[in-house]
Amino acid sequence: MKKILVTRRIPQPALDLFGNMDGVELVVSPHDRPLARQELLDMSQGATAVLSMLVDKIDADYMDRCPDVKIVANFAVGFDNIDLEAARERKVIVANTPDVVTDATADMALALMLGVARRLVEGDQLVRKGEFKGTSPMFMLGVDLKGKTLGIYGMGRIGLAVARRARAFGMNIVYTKRTPDPEAEAELGARYLSFDEFLAASDFVSVNAPLTEQTKGAFNYQAFGKMKKTAYVINTARGPLIKEADLVKALSEGLIAGAGLDVYEKEPLVHQGLLDMPNVLLAPHAGTATWETRCDIGSTAAENIIAYLKGEEIPHRVV
Ligand code: GLV
Ligand code: GLV
Repeated sequence: MKKILVTRRIPQPALDLFGNMDGVELVVSPHDRPLARQELLDMSQGATAVLSMLVDKIDADYMDRCPDVKIVANFAVGFDNIDLEAARERKVIVANTPDVVTDATADMALALMLGVARRLVEGDQLVRKGEFKGTSPMFMLGVDLKGKTLGIYGMGRIGLAVARRARAFGMNIVYTKRTPDPEAEAELGARYLSFDEFLAASDFVSVNAPLTEQTKGAFNYQAFGKMKKTAYVINTARGPLIKEADLVKALSEGLIAGAGLDVYEKEPLVHQGLLDMPNVLLAPHAGTATWETRCDIGSTAAENIIAYLKGEEIPHRVV
C-alpha cells in the first residue's frame, strides 16, 4: 500500500482521481484548517506522496523527518513554502499547478484594479450606511483604465493574462522582468523597461512574479517613491514582494494613490495601517478561489502524484 496524504480538504473531484487506483491508501486531513507542524509531521509518517498546501512548510527538517515522502505536489502554482534545494539534495520530487490558476488569478488582478479605480468597496459601504443621496457630477469620482499604462512586474503566464485583459480595457502595457519577452511585445505592444523606468511609467502596477530571493521586498519605500503619485499597486502574487510597512508609509505620505491586495507579507495578518485606508482594497488570498479553478488545481496536483505512482513523467515537475 502506498500512502498519499492530502493535508487539507480539497474539492472531491480531485480526490476521486485516486479512487480507482490499486494499492493506494488515501489519507485526507480531517481538519479544515492548516495543520500544526507536529500534526503535519505525524500524518506524513509512511506517506509516499504529499498533496500539500501553501501553508505547509516543506523544509529540510521536514524531509529528514519524513524520509518516505518521495513527491510533494503543491496545491498551488507558487512553491515558496518548499525548500527546493533541500528537495534536490534528497531527490524529493516537487510539483506544482501552473496554467490552471492563470485565468482566475488574472481575473482577480483586474477585479482589484477596477475595484480601486472605481472605488467599489467605498461605494458599497456608503450605500449600505444609507449615505447615498443621489448621484451628482462630482460624486465618487475614480479614474479610467482606458489610456492608462499598466506595468506588469513579472511577465509570466499570469502577467501575460493580466496584460491581455488590460488591452481589452484600452490600456498600454509596459513590463519588467529578468529578460525581455519578444512574444509579449509582439502580441500586446508591451514595452520592456528597467525597474526604475517601469515604476516611473506605470499608472497601475500589477505584481505577478513568484517570490524569490531576488523579488522579495522589491516594492519598498524607495520604489514607491519612484512611482507616480496617482499610481495604484495591485498584488495577486505573494505578499513579501511588497514591504507592507513601506506601502503604508508611502500611502499615508501620498507617494502613490492606492492599492489592491490579495496577498500579505505575514498572512493571514494584515498591517493595521492598510485596514484603516479607504483607498486600499483587500481580498483574502482568493486569486484562484473559484469552484472551477480549485477543482482544476486539485486535479492537477493529483495527476502529478498519480503520474509518479505509475512511473510516468510528472506533468508539472519543479525539481
Ligand atoms: C496561489 O497562491 C498559488 O500559488 O496557486
Ligand atoms: C507565475 O506564477 C506564472 O505562472 O507565470
